[in-house]
Amino acid sequence: MIETIPSFGLGTFRVDAAKTTEAVKSALNIGYRHIDTAQYYNNEAAVGQGVRDSGIARDEVWVTTKVWWERLSRDALIASLKDSHTKLDIGTIDLALVHWPSPKGAVPIAETLAALQEAQQLGLIRHYGVSNFTAPLLEEALAAPGGKDIVTNQIEVSPFLANRSLVDATQKSGVKVTAYMPLGEGRAHKDMTLKAIAAKHGVTPAQVTFAWLLARDIVVLSASTNPAHQQSNWDAQKLKLDADDIAQIDALDEGRRNANPSFAPKW
Ligand SMILES: NC(=O)c1ccc[n+]([C@@H]2O[C@H](COP(=O)([O-])OP(=O)(O)OC[C@H]3O[C@@H](n4cnc5c(N)ncnc54)[C@H](OP(=O)(O)O)[C@@H]3O)[C@@H](O)[C@H]2O)c1
Repeated sequence: MIETIPSFGLGTFRVDAAKTTEAVKSALNIGYRHIDTAQYYNNEAAVGQGVRDSGIARDEVWVTTKVWWERLSRDALIASLKDSHTKLDIGTIDLALVHWPSPKGAVPIAETLAALQEAQQLGLIRHYGVSNFTAPLLEEALAAPGGKDIVTNQIEVSPFLANRSLVDATQKSGVKVTAYMPLGEGRAHKDMTLKAIAAKHGVTPAQVTFAWLLARDIVVLSASTNPAHQQSNWDAQKLKLDADDIAQIDALDEGRRNANPSFAPKW
């Protein structure tokens, strides 16, 4: 059984259910042991199929799903995780995240955390955490009963949104940061600085980006249905950047956020 969140995972946002099973199988075959899905992505059943068909023992794979923000009250959360558990069909889900905080605190975080603990007791999930929580929201969650067991805050981090104060606050509180949309919606491939660093090491700008995140002790999620991209992204774990590379990438931060829906918290 994997006890801590693996540092490099496959994302599945915007991956059609029809392509998801093959993508998951291919990634697991390469060596990925962490798959990220969500109720909102409508591909949990296909993720579960990929895990089951991969031939990799269930306890060697970490699967994360996320509970949509409209289902954070006790009854809705339990019902939705029962549904995720059925759709994934892989036994106990390794990690369930609160996908977005309840807008304007409509559902108190204490109620949601109590429901997540109940889901643990029911055997639906092993661990829980949060996503898109600001530093004050995370602080409030950590102070609530059950808050100390939050394992990660999954947030947007890319070279163009270093998200430094939230990353620091999360890590200082002992919670792992997981980065989503690491490539800045494709911008990393074209960035001149990342391209120059990549050329210096004989790698790709995507690999440079992932190595920069890993150097910050941030769990990386990268999404690809292309096995060659999956392999190359995975290989980024071997890349060691030097201090000069890291300083150059740090300087790309513009605080530019891609994920900012109407129900997002005040960042
Ligand atoms: N918690 C949240 O609110 C939240 C929000 C957004 C995302 N997420 C999670 O984080 C994961 C990652 O974010 P993301 O999917 O937006 O972004 P991403 O991994 O930065 O980008 C995915 C896109 O990049 C392409 N790509 C990946 N590797 C490539 C490579 N080596 N060369 C060229 N193109 C490459 C993929 O196309 P190909 O398939 O053609 O390779 C795909 O179109 C998501 O899948 C999801 O699981 C969470």
